[in-house]
Amino acid sequence: MDFIVKPLIEQDKGWVLEVVRRWGDDFIITRGRKVYPAQLAGFLAESPDGEKIGLATYEVIGDQCEMVTLDAFKKFSGVGTVLTEKVEEAAIAAGCKRLWLITTNDNLDGIRFYQRRGFTIAAVHVNALEHSRKLKPVIPLIGQHGIPLRDEIEFEMWL
Ligand SMILES: CC(C)(COP(=O)(O)OP(=O)(O)OC[C@H]1O[C@@H](n2cnc3c(N)ncnc32)[C@H](O)[C@@H]1OP(=O)(O)O)[C@@H](O)C(=O)NCCC(=O)NCCS
Repeated sequence: MDFIVKPLIEQDKGWVLEVVRRWGDDFIITRGRKVYPAQLAGFLAESPDGEKIGLATYEVIGDQCEMVTLDAFKKFSGVGTVLTEKVEEAAIAAGCKRLWLITTNDNLDGIRFYQRRGFTIAAVHVNALEHSRKLKPVIPLIGQHGIPLRDEIEFEMWL
């Protein structure tokens, strides 16, 4: 499938916010912290007809880069792979030593995807979602495949 990847610009912020709000609010919770993806740098993937088919956002703090969100709206076409590579390149360009991200215990596709892309598990934050729900009560109790949504899995890649 043909698509191009572009850095997010100011005019994309409304769309990013729209995407983020599908998950219940303007922010997501990562490691017990509210993070607002629409305020972050990132990349979007666009099909030749202009449809936005993927989004990645990231945040650099010191020499660490967190990939805060990654979404392919057309799955299994390479969009997630290319967006991840772009974030990796941006992290290297920013002088980061480590790229990391959080996913959840129910995200079996994600757990597979990240390990196939060179990430390793750095930590499992057991029952972290209990605290996340205090900050964002709309986080469901049951996740994908009917799996109780419970733990944060921290993946990392040394750059
Ligand atoms: C995880 C995610 C970003 C991957 O993006 P993607 O564009 O689908 O990924 P790609 O096309 O680059 O690669 C998908 C892989 O799945 C494989 N695949 C193809 N068809 C598949 C199917 N029907 N079921 C499962 N895997 C399939 C592809 O062959 C590829 O395999 P590989 O890892 O062995 O190379 C995407 O599934 C997604 O948006 N998920 C929902 C949001 C999410 O979970 N985000 C990340 C967590 S924070």
